[in-house]
Amino acid sequence: MSSYYVTTPIYYVNDRPHIGHCFTTTLGDVVARFQRLFGRDVFFLTGTDEHADKVVTTAASKGLTPQQWSDINAGEFKKAFAAMNISNDDFIRTTEHRHKEKVEQYIRELQKRGDIYLGDYVGWWDASQEEYLTETAAKEAGYKSPVTGKELVKRTERNYFFKLSAYHDRLMEYIGNNPEFIMPESRRNEVLGRLRERLADIPVSRAITDDATSQWGIRMPDDPTHRIYVWIDALFNYLSVVDNESRRRYWPPAVHLLAKDILWFHAVIWPCMLMALDKPLPRMVYAHSYFIRDGVKMSKSLGNFIDLEVIDAYCKAYSTDALRWFLVTQGPMNNADADFRHAKFVEVFNADLANGLGNAVSRVGNMCDKYFGGKVPDPKGVSSLPDLPDYQWPGIIAQHVRSAIAKADMLDIGGALGEGVALVKRVDAYINVTEPFKLAKKLTPGDSPERDRLAAILYHCAEALRVATLLHSPAIPDAAARVWKAWNCAPPEGMALAHMTTWGEHHSLKPGEPLIKGDILFMRADPAAAPPVPAPRAE
Ligand code: MSP
Repeated sequence: MSSYYVTTPIYYVNDRPHIGHCFTTTLGDVVARFQRLFGRDVFFLTGTDEHADKVVTTAASKGLTPQQWSDINAGEFKKAFAAMNISNDDFIRTTEHRHKEKVEQYIRELQKRGDIYLGDYVGWWDASQEEYLTETAAKEAGYKSPVTGKELVKRTERNYFFKLSAYHDRLMEYIGNNPEFIMPESRRNEVLGRLRERLADIPVSRAITDDATSQWGIRMPDDPTHRIYVWIDALFNYLSVVDNESRRRYWPPAVHLLAKDILWFHAVIWPCMLMALDKPLPRMVYAHSYFIRDGVKMSKSLGNFIDLEVIDAYCKAYSTDALRWFLVTQGPMNNADADFRHAKFVEVFNADLANGLGNAVSRVGNMCDKYFGGKVPDPKGVSSLPDLPDYQWPGIIAQHVRSAIAKADMLDIGGALGEGVALVKRVDAYINVTEPFKLAKKLTPGDSPERDRLAAILYHCAEALRVATLLHSPAIPDAAARVWKAWNCAPPEGMALAHMTTWGEHHSLKPGEPLIKGDILFMRADPAAAPPVPAPRAE
């Protein structure tokens, strides 16, 4: 079985989780669930990045140790991801022994190979991002942080360096040979643009002073005066978690998911470190854009984050599935930022879920219940149906399944889910064309050609919807499981989608088996009703 390793960034614990973190992790979850559905051996990792300087200052302001504060906030992230029904296989915290021990080992290895050495660094320090900028980058940004606009400070430090410069050509070659390595394409072009300037070596440590902040972090091996720079420590999480006997098969990652702000670390620094360690490189680094709220960037100063409270309110009012669906189908996958607006949420919810899958499942389930006693109808009357070229189900289903797999593999998650939506639309259209309701009115007690035709029509609808439910399931696992229960067709664990969706095969619906109408999946939402939490007033 081929393995598929998907990761999210590990999130800083100095801030509480918000919709942005939930977006990337939900995206990772849907990717992981798709791949499991395709029959792959999946490992899905998320976690928290805890050695940032800001953790120390925030903890101090609350009268806590950095570790205590990390424990509290790592707990918040776990809570948020549980609320989003995330199926991660592990949750890494960089303060865990299993991680620190490996990081020390990787640094030693790099030192031994001569890829980490001691030198002097002069650079422009962006305190708000805990990041140095090169002279060129600092100048371009007007000596202000490109992210927060805060003044950059010129600093000199005795430091350990990683020989990034030595890997420039190999990285260029890798990017050139692997067009899917940096995605989407516009982001790849950005990285290539920056790579026109040759890479310089980068500092990978920070000096330890009397200042409490500088004590927080993993020590440089055999040098008590330095600690490992938080970004280097953090990147290693992807490797440290699977670098053991039982998980080694997952390396290299199929995809690292992240947002555009941290692409450089993932698409340049990280692969070069891996080359230095002689490790195969990730197959894809996917950098999405940002969620904004009601047209406004979310920020601390505006206090307009979609935080756990808002997330919970949406989950309660519309279901967790509904929020997951909105995030992954409307999320900022390409260049443009995506807007979280209540009106849009309701529109998408009604169109795709309540009036889409939910309505179709309930119509077809109702008819099976009413006319066939809650049993899967027998399609034996299929030959008496008119031959409709647009509704050749075996071929249509195979086509949607193939496209969904191809799209999900390329991280086009909205597109992959769209295959399920399109299949539901096709079923709706088929019902309009074949008019089973009218046929039902002509039924007489006992067997009749009308009953056989009605049975064949409903069988086709139900079987197509069973597949549509599978194609929706990575985003809406709870609702899908409810349909499978009512329709008695839960997919066997580990079974590959392509196998389960071949028409007439073992896993298709079986005539005579129970199929009851079940509860309503998604109650239509009233577009005029107030949002579950008031939207903040845009200034
Ligand atoms: N700790 C680093 C990452 C280290 S990975 C080895 C970090 N943490 S973070 O807490 O700032 O999280 C950044 C990530 O959160 C982004 O890359 C993105 O995945 C997600 N998002 C944060 N805000 C976001 C939005 N407004 N919209 C979408 N995703 C965003 O950087």
